Order: sequence, then structure tokens, then C-alpha cells
Amino acid sequence: MGKVYVFDHPLIQHKLTYIRDKNTGTKEFRELVEEVATLMAFEITRDLPLVEVEIETPVSRAKSKIIAGKKLGIIPILRAGIGMVDGILKLIPAAKVGHIGLYRDPETLKPVEYYVKLPTDVEERDFIVVDPMLATGGSAVEAINSLKKRGAKSIKFMCLIAAPEGVEAVQKAHPDVDIYIAALDEKLNDHGYIVPGLGDAGDRLFGTK
Ligand code: PRP
Ligand code: URA
Repeated sequence: MGKVYVFDHPLIQHKLTYIRDKNTGTKEFRELVEEVATLMAFEITRDLPLVEVEIETPVSRAKSKIIAGKKLGIIPILRAGIGMVDGILKLIPAAKVGHIGLYRDPETLKPVEYYVKLPTDVEERDFIVVDPMLATGGSAVEAINSLKKRGAKSIKFMCLIAAPEGVEAVQKAHPDVDIYIAALDEKLNDHGYIVPGLGDAGDRLFGTK
């Protein structure tokens, strides 16, 4: 069973409150989502392997550590996942970015795939799939299916807000995938929206309706 990590750092919780607030406009919403993505990236990269190197400081020779050149891939689920990418790249600028386009059919709530473009060396990379919302879990499960079908072996899923239903769906379909969230909300409403949630993440990020 995949583990669930809730990043409840005070800065993340503070920024998430303003992200949730319906009076927060597009510009500020976008900035806050990017900032929270950076803070979450700091936590999610905690287990990156290090190697020892020798350097010379102005004072003496020293053994010190650097990241062991792991190949990382960020996969935003279009559209709303795009809002998290720049925040993550601030900390891991060499990561490759693939895209998986899915939208949720408003009637059936089932995900419909319309675009996939991934780095070429899928089998060698560690992927972080990102999307602000994990609601029914349909989109996350499908995006991870899509990645695995193309050879991905190591996948984490990161989102801002999750519903219990979504967490359960990902754990059931992909027990090898750990889930990283900023908040676990109460439930889904009849339209499949997370309660209390933040509304429609894509519309709030891009100023559409
Ligand atoms: C939203 C969100 C997730 C999905 C979550 O995208 O960004 O991808 O819904 O819901 P689920 O867990 O029930 O699948 P949406 O389908 O609204 O598309 P958009 O990002 O293009 O607005
Ligand atoms: N997609 C969103 O953007 N928000 C929700 O609450 C659920 C799915």
C-alpha cells in the first residue's frame, strides 16, 4: 500500500488558506500555488541520494555532499498541474517535464486523455506526477496508468488538496505510488468537487469559467 504524507508545515498551511479563499484573485492564486509547490518540492526531495565529493574551501580541503545526479521527471496533469511546475523547477531546475492531458467529463466524472508527451528515457527516471486536486482520483489513476504503460517504474504523486475517495482510489490502483499532499479534506460533493476544497483549480489558475 502506498504511503500518504501530509506536508502540514505552517507556511504551507498559511498559503493554502489564501489559495482556498474565494476572494483570492487569479494573479495571487497562481503565485501562491507556485510557492506551495516549491515548499512541497523541498519535502518530497528529502530522500534524494547524495554522493561525497572533495572540494577546496578558502580554508582547507573538505569532503562534502552533492545530489547523486538522479534523473527526475515532473509530470503535470493538464491543465491545472501546470501551475505547480515552475515552483518545483525552482529547486530542481534540471528535471525534465512531461505532460499528460486529461479532463474530467462533467457528466461521468471519468477522465478523458487527450495529450501525452514524455521524456524519452521513461524507464530510467523517477517521476513526480503533479496536480493541485485529487478528487475522485480518476485523473491521477489514469495519468499513472499512462506513465506505467510507457515504461515508468518509479512514480510519486503530489497534490495540494485530496479527498479521502481520491487517496483510496490511487492506493488501490497503484499500491507502489506514495502520495504527498498539503491537506486532506472532508469529502466530495454531488458534483465530484472537494469540500471545502478550493473550487475548480484550472479555472482559478487560468481565470476561465
Ligand atoms: C481537475 C483537477 C484534476 C481533476 C481531479 O481537472 O485539476 O486533474 O480535476 O479530479 P478527479 O480526481 O475526480 O479526476 P479538470 O478535469 O477540471 O481539468 P482542467 O485541469 O483542464 O481544468
Ligand atoms: N477538480 C477541481 O478542480 N476541483 C475539485 O474540487 C475537484 C476536481
